[in-house]
Amino acid sequence: MSKRTKWDTKGDLDESKNLPIYQHKATLQQAVKDNSFLVVTGETGSGKTTQLPQYLKLTRNNGKIGITQPRRVAAITVAQRVSQEMHCSLGREVGYQVRFDDCTTQDTVVKYMTDGCLLREILADPVLSQYSVVILDEAHERSLNTDILLGLLKQTLSSPDKASKGRSVPLKVVVMSATLETDKLSVFLGGCPVFTIPGRTFPVTSKFSCAIGPKDTESSVYIKEVVKVALDVHTSEMAGDILVFLTGQSEIEKACDMLYEKAESIDYRYDVQDHKVEGLLILPLYGSMPTDQQKQIFQPPPPGIRKCVVATNIAATSLTINGIKYIVDSGFVKQLNHNSRVGMDILEVVPISKSEALQRAGRAGRTSAGKCFRIYSPAFWEKCMPEYTVPEIQRTSLTAVILTLKCLGVHDVIRFPYLDRPEERFILEALKQLYQCDAIDRRGKVTRLGELMVEFPLPPGLTRALLQAASLGCEDLLLPVAAMLSVENIFIRPGHPEKQKEADKKHRQLGVQAGSCNDFTMLLSVFEKCKASDAPSAWCKDNYIHWRALKSAFSVETQLREILLRLQKKRDFPMEKFDGNKSELFRRCLCTGYFTNVARRSVGKVFCTMDGHGSMVHIHPSSTLFDQEAQLDWVIFHDLLVTSRIYIRTVCPIRYDWVKDLLPKLHEVDVYELSSVAREEVTDEEVAKWMTKETAKRQTEGSAEAVF
Ligand code: CDP
Ligand code: MG
Repeated sequence: MSKRTKWDTKGDLDESKNLPIYQHKATLQQAVKDNSFLVVTGETGSGKTTQLPQYLKLTRNNGKIGITQPRRVAAITVAQRVSQEMHCSLGREVGYQVRFDDCTTQDTVVKYMTDGCLLREILADPVLSQYSVVILDEAHERSLNTDILLGLLKQTLSSPDKASKGRSVPLKVVVMSATLETDKLSVFLGGCPVFTIPGRTFPVTSKFSCAIGPKDTESSVYIKEVVKVALDVHTSEMAGDILVFLTGQSEIEKACDMLYEKAESIDYRYDVQDHKVEGLLILPLYGSMPTDQQKQIFQPPPPGIRKCVVATNIAATSLTINGIKYIVDSGFVKQLNHNSRVGMDILEVVPISKSEALQRAGRAGRTSAGKCFRIYSPAFWEKCMPEYTVPEIQRTSLTAVILTLKCLGVHDVIRFPYLDRPEERFILEALKQLYQCDAIDRRGKVTRLGELMVEFPLPPGLTRALLQAASLGCEDLLLPVAAMLSVENIFIRPGHPEKQKEADKKHRQLGVQAGSCNDFTMLLSVFEKCKASDAPSAWCKDNYIHWRALKSAFSVETQLREILLRLQKKRDFPMEKFDGNKSELFRRCLCTGYFTNVARRSVGKVFCTMDGHGSMVHIHPSSTLFDQEAQLDWVIFHDLLVTSRIYIRTVCPIRYDWVKDLLPKLHEVDVYELSSVAREEVTDEEVAKWMTKETAKRQTEGSAEAVF
């Protein structure tokens, strides 16, 4: 049987009294009472996320306790855990809210949520009058939304007028973070106290390997290697569970398949050194996993069985799994980065930072000494891994948050109190995109359309297309598409080559049935067919479609429809007329939001984007239009995938005519104009005066360069 530590063997909910935070319950309650802001830090697993909200609930003044998480899985699983500890059913006293999934009721007092959800709540109620305490958890992760919340709450609480408006008792803000960065946070929040939960950690020995060098970034290489190392650990190390860090769902599923296969052939009489170990329990852990499966991760394995969890970075700080003694670190993470080559945000696999690697290793030393096996070489560590992870605000598109800030009345988005200031060009890029989809005007002010757009938890381009469809009375075409693009990939591609062929064939058939045949109509058709089916789950199975993802899409569609209905009831909801056929109408609506993602075929199968970057792109093999490139001219696309080539995914053919009038918008934006408006409020007359001066200056200089 696996050797278990004192905490783990108990395995019951009483464990909370053994957590390091327990001894500081009264001090923490008092510290929150005495301060507007408090920074709390402590080793991962010391009980911050699960316990502090419960302590504060006891001393609250009527209001709710809100706890934000950068990751939805963390919000859900922690809420589950805490509801068990508090002996109540989930959604009653303890609940959670994440995008498109609200599991709270009027009785909910302790509310776990994503940082994005709290940002939306601030839009409706800037002083958060329902809350007595707001806890921003995992602040060290530096997610875009948490960073913005920090700035907003700092602004609100530092202006006593604003802070007390509509509140009987002042709001308290707790910021929780791993030990890094706490001084910086405290200084940012006006020198607020930092409470450190003392905790013991055990030594972890880390070993490098030579398998992954600076040039090995192919996923097949590191997947194979982590599987090999995990099996080595299983067969040669003493009892204790294994945690493998990989990059994303598909890599994790592949690694788990390989592990299952190889673990089958182990002869426990001879191959495994520790004869108390008699089996391997392999468990994947990633964001879009069903919640009942996620629960299993935390349960101790049966006697004699070693648990091996294969996880994304979520297991680095957000979730603590008890009993882990061995870490296998791939050295990579999937990260959203702004790619300046193509001018868009792209999910990329990149080497982790050194601080991240130390955090990963530390997971093995929580309750006893542990070991960390790095599959990369010391040269990889030196040459490829940065010291720290760059905060999300400095590496991704700011479009949605800038619109939120503008709607909150923060016009000066350049001088907003950012914990780390994003580069000005990223702010300008966001303003440009907002201007292009008519969310702000030339002076940087939110338009009526912008106020409608901010209500949707979707990327601005998609929202713009949806609102266009709604104004033409054809939202039924766009709502399902928006929903399908908001859930995990719905198409199943089995690992087995024969099955893969069959799945591809089925998917192609669905595409043909969809009539006008493009990837957007394909999504619409799958949605409608499944919805109309008497046995939807069987239909999905038969067509190699993820039933779970589709079920989420149904629910998302309903929620988007509710938002839209609420907005349509307002008197000034824009309405237009259109005479033309349905397929054209659909594609023209898409163009309104996606004209920024337009490409034209240049030669053979190569397309060229029209956004000023002029990137050479290919249609992704998963597209219904793959291999039909010769018949295409202009296309729009939903997103990009960058490997050795740049692929466009979810593609739709369009006519040049439909974007002709929109395309100049890609180039006409005057960066100086938007930025100077962003810096300060100016009147129309001032803008007019300034514009003539600038225009005149540019004309005399004979340059058209002020264009982005
Ligand atoms: O937030 P922090 O990292 O300080 O700790 P925590 O997440 O509150 O975890 C405290 C304890 O609760 C750990 O022993 C976790 O393993 C356990 N826990 C759990 O068993 N199930 C969850 N869903 C979350 C936490
Ligand atoms: Mg935590």
